[in-house]
Amino acid sequence: MKEKIILGIETSCDDTSFALLKGNPDDLSEKPTLLAHQSFSQELMLQKWGGVVPEIAARNHLEKITPLLDSCFKTAGVKITDVSLIAVTTHPGLLGPLLTGINCAKTLALLHNLPIASVNHLYAHLEAIHLTESVPYPYLGLLVSGGHSLYLKVTSPTSFEILGNTIDDAAGEAFDKGGKLLGLGYPAGKIIDDLAVNGDPKKYTFPISMLDSGDATLSFSGVKTSLRNFIEANPEGSFKMEDVCASYQYAIVEALSRKLKKAQDIAGAHDLPIVVGGGVACNSSLRTTLKNNYKNVHVVAPRFCTDNGAMIANYALRTYHDAISFPECLGLDARGQF
Ligand code: KG4
Ligand code: ZN
Repeated sequence: MKEKIILGIETSCDDTSFALLKGNPDDLSEKPTLLAHQSFSQELMLQKWGGVVPEIAARNHLEKITPLLDSCFKTAGVKITDVSLIAVTTHPGLLGPLLTGINCAKTLALLHNLPIASVNHLYAHLEAIHLTESVPYPYLGLLVSGGHSLYLKVTSPTSFEILGNTIDDAAGEAFDKGGKLLGLGYPAGKIIDDLAVNGDPKKYTFPISMLDSGDATLSFSGVKTSLRNFIEANPEGSFKMEDVCASYQYAIVEALSRKLKKAQDIAGAHDLPIVVGGGVACNSSLRTTLKNNYKNVHVVAPRFCTDNGAMIANYALRTYHDAISFPECLGLDARGQF
């Protein structure tokens, strides 16, 4: 089969993102070519709410879809008639935001008789590694985002086995909620990361949760409560923000790094390549810590870590033959079912 052009659509949370990706579905050893990638982050618009409000996020997506799509096709110099497949995030995510992307995909499919690939957002985060490098299967995946913290054994683009999960907050949530407590704005992951560079991670002790659980289970609600207690006991101005950020980040990163060893134990293999993806994989301390403690660590490139259309198109390229042909694809729903 020759090269195909895939349109990727991502609207599962607060990023509206489209990509046009060219690749050969029958030769995945060839790196795909990203023809265009246009995104809009609602971060600034959502800052006044201190987080994502699903209905507002969905309306913001609606406003951005047409200009971003236009701009994508102009940048790539291709037309919708050159596209072979529409890939869209169908799950998991916020229902209203997901439906805007799904309805955009269905409309284009209806107008141009195109098939749709229903993409699992979580799998796409990890498989995004293949946008820049080739990692063999099986690999051990660490997916860390605003909504998820998972260790997975990945044996093919469609075979994901959960080895460990969080029992409460996700790592990204711990960064965002911690940042809110510290009055740093939303989303706080990058802000804490930047401040922590000039802080002492050993200055304060925040708990590294579930260390004795014997499995790859994570928990981040304790570290958040501990930060709240710290702030209540230490009035503003009595501590250096950089030190608190570095110490808080240390507790989150250490938990993720130490539990990775448990995930390896559960997988029964300590020599699998490790792939790290999702928004929190942008974290500089996490990247360094994992590379210092483990061999064969592959972290998704920062521009493909936070939610983006390229990873959605890339996942559809890697599972090209699972796409649902037209007109059956018009029955697609927000659980990825038809
Ligand atoms: O993958 P993503 O864009 O959206 C979800 O699928 O959730 O991840 C967003 C999360 C947010 O919680 C954000 O604070 C976090 O990724 N994040 C970071 C950094 N950059 C983004 N967390 C820590 N350090 C960073 N540099
Ligand atoms: Zn995501």
